[in-house]
Amino acid sequence: MLVVGSGAREHALCWRLAQSPQVSEVLAAPGNPGMEAVARRLAVTASDGSALAQAAVRERVDLVVIGPEAPLVQGVADRLRQAGLPVLGPSAAAARIEGSKAWAMDLCHRHGIPAPTARRAAHADEALALVEASPLPVVLKADGLMAGKGVVVALTREEARAAAERLGARGPVVLEEFLEGPEVSAFALCDGRRALPLGLARDHKRLLEGDRGPMTGGMGAYTPLADVEAGQRAQILRLLDDAVRAMAAEGCPFVGFLFAGLMLTPSGPRVLEFNCRLGDPEAQVLLPLLDGDPAPLWLRAAHGDLGAADQVRLLPGAALGVVLATPGYPDAPRAGQAIWGLGEDGQPDGGGALCFHGGSVRDGGWRTVGGRTLTLVGTGPDLGAARAAAYGAVERVGFAQAQWRRDIAGGWSRA
Ligand code: AMP
Ligand code: GLY
Repeated sequence: MLVVGSGAREHALCWRLAQSPQVSEVLAAPGNPGMEAVARRLAVTASDGSALAQAAVRERVDLVVIGPEAPLVQGVADRLRQAGLPVLGPSAAAARIEGSKAWAMDLCHRHGIPAPTARRAAHADEALALVEASPLPVVLKADGLMAGKGVVVALTREEARAAAERLGARGPVVLEEFLEGPEVSAFALCDGRRALPLGLARDHKRLLEGDRGPMTGGMGAYTPLADVEAGQRAQILRLLDDAVRAMAAEGCPFVGFLFAGLMLTPSGPRVLEFNCRLGDPEAQVLLPLLDGDPAPLWLRAAHGDLGAADQVRLLPGAALGVVLATPGYPDAPRAGQAIWGLGEDGQPDGGGALCFHGGSVRDGGWRTVGGRTLTLVGTGPDLGAARAAAYGAVERVGFAQAQWRRDIAGGWSRA
């Protein structure tokens, strides 16, 4: 099996597949040094569809799993399918659900999938005009991929104008109705026709404790979510299934992991965004709880062949992940800090937690390459135990001036 990508999410994918009795070898392209204990790396970049196809054919790969959104939006899955390879990951046409916020919102509105009201501005001037007519707060989003950094929740008209100018200078902008409520990341395994629910997780997107500071790719995550009731779960499942059916009906069936970022409003869950892949760091907490062998199920999904009896099951218990980012992240991450507390295999000395590498190198010891470097994941019978395991690892694994949050899943205090 070949995993495309090089982050901590892809490390978690490799780690999980490597445990499958049916998988003889896991390959990663290009992967990172922290995953070498579970995957053999191929020197091919994630965006080079032709080189990936050649390598996958040469290695007689049975399934390609594409981790990040950028290659999906660029059509790497299409290129691999043209070479006859089974791929878990959407076509470029289906990846528009993440690649264009405007397209995704239109899809929701066309098919009655609950979402905020939204309007698209082609450029800054149009966005400025829409800002003047919008109730406050208003949400402005860059239409294309921005690695989680293209969203502004503007509380004042001034902030909204500034955001319209900044985002509008780069391209189209979507202005959305402001929604309030708890947020949930919902995932489904999709074969183009159906969505099998995979689980719910919660991500902490802001850099600083108390949900302050700049937006990041995600500073931590946990699962399960005790605050989501059975009725809301049923609504979320219907929403995911409706989205997959809508895409099939529009001629761009979605194969892969569908990720809905939802707001649980008083009138039910509504879509803030769709992503065309697993979340990072959500994958790092969901994959350790997957029950059974995912390989045959993922293969059936890639072949468009999920059966009525197929189901994704999670183990009872909980998982919690804390991200360690380098100083300066997200604006100007600095690199090169020596990482302490990891063994030869890149895992915490003495065990007790999992370490998924997002940006590390080895030269003598482990070193950071800048940005979200490690996700330390604790698992246990409940969230308290998972939290103790994860923060226990944070006490032992780290690097100078590491940035991490103490309040993942409600927090932790040193005893
Ligand atoms: P997105 O990348 O679209 O999920 O947006 C990033 C974050 O911005 C979300 O996690 C929310 O906290 C916030 N956000 C996005 N859209 C809205 C909205 N319509 N109303 C309120 N907050 C939003
Ligand atoms: N953690 C949110 C994302 O992967 O987009």
